[in-house]
Amino acid sequence: MTNYQMPRGTQDILPNEIEKWHALEEFLTKFATLYHYKEIRTPIFEHTEVFKRGNDSSDMVNKEMYTFMDNGSRSITLRPEGTAGVCRSFVENKLFGSADLPQKLYYMGPMMRYERPQKGRQRIFHQFGVEAIGAKNPYLDVETIALGYSILRGLGLKDLVVQLNTLGDDASRNAYREALKDHFSTSLDELCTDCKRRYEQNPLRILDCKVDHDHPAMKSAPKIQDYLNSESRDYFDRVKEGLDALGIPYTVEDRLVRGLDYYTHTVFEIVSVNEEMGSQSTLLAGGRYDGLIEYFGGPQMSGMGFALGMERILIALDAEKIDITEEESIDAYVLCLDDQAQCNALAITTTLRSHGFIAETDYLHRSFKAQFKSVDRMKAKVAVLIGNSEVENHTVSIKRIDTQEQYVVDQDQLIEKMDEIFEERM
Ligand code: HAM
Repeated sequence: MTNYQMPRGTQDILPNEIEKWHALEEFLTKFATLYHYKEIRTPIFEHTEVFKRGNDSSDMVNKEMYTFMDNGSRSITLRPEGTAGVCRSFVENKLFGSADLPQKLYYMGPMMRYERPQKGRQRIFHQFGVEAIGAKNPYLDVETIALGYSILRGLGLKDLVVQLNTLGDDASRNAYREALKDHFSTSLDELCTDCKRRYEQNPLRILDCKVDHDHPAMKSAPKIQDYLNSESRDYFDRVKEGLDALGIPYTVEDRLVRGLDYYTHTVFEIVSVNEEMGSQSTLLAGGRYDGLIEYFGGPQMSGMGFALGMERILIALDAEKIDITEEESIDAYVLCLDDQAQCNALAITTTLRSHGFIAETDYLHRSFKAQFKSVDRMKAKVAVLIGNSEVENHTVSIKRIDTQEQYVVDQDQLIEKMDEIFEERM
């Protein structure tokens, strides 16, 4: 049987929901601009190697990518995240040559991952993300975390926890990796198949396992803090100092390693603790990465960024009963009172629109009463009436809904009258 339903894990965003998307997009754009970020738009598919780099251990790369051969026998992957594509573009377009580093780039758009769908987890979802590339400075990490936190607080969300950790530099991480391998070697048989793979590829990722989360070996695992060399410890201390100075509350989470392989030093997540969120409660996550720009053939440059899940933000806003939309309304509804007036009503509607008034009219030959119901439903500020006598006399009747005042003016004076009414309403 033909299946005309949308694929599992995808969703339509319908006209009755679009207002909150627009409001969120506008809010995020404003905040990004405030922090001096500029938008970058990269393709929603890339060559697979952009995402699949070497011996990557992440679930995202190993299990969740939509990868296919195109008609030219190239392996293509639908982007599962934004960071890799932005770094590829940064190198390809030589943005590293800019006099203004770090380059601060933001993006918004759909990402695709083959995950098991549930509330807050889709196969197509939308991220807003930022990447500041070209400066390695703990206070830039602080600024980035501050941006993420201010966005969520600015939206009105309160039930938030900032979780922070460091993965240290390469040397610290290598020492820690060895310690973890040692530690898990005796219990490896009891861990899940994914953990066995992680043990070989990147033992840090074992700490992130949802299946073996409560295994005793997890609880007794060594902590990264004990393997940090002095540079890494100093870097992390400055990040904490900066967050304290800005008054951003956080908790240090030893087991926070993040699901992607490219991180070094700072990693963080902002989680909603509202109980209606369910298990998908991480609203925003990111950290510092060192090797990506080099991987794409660029200079040795470090980046710092995060991405937030826009669907999850909307769920969190609902959970905290926050409405970010402005009341939807139109400026004028043009009532067309008989068939002969239709052409004139359309001309009037078009004139209103060309002067910046959001206007609508009737195309269903409905009764006067039914059209007035549309005036109410659309919350029109003004009703403009066109009937036979108005056509004959070249006039319009205008009814101001808030005061119920009515005027009859020549059609040439309609815009003047509308301007006057809207001026008074301000
Ligand atoms: P991520 O943790 O994979 O990081 O995703 C960031 C956010 O995207 C998550 O916290 C969540 O809100 C949302 N998200 C992820 N997967 C799904 C899904 N299947 N359905 C709904 N929402 C989802 C990254 O993507 C990194 N690129 C972040 C980053 C930027 N790191 C440095 N720069």
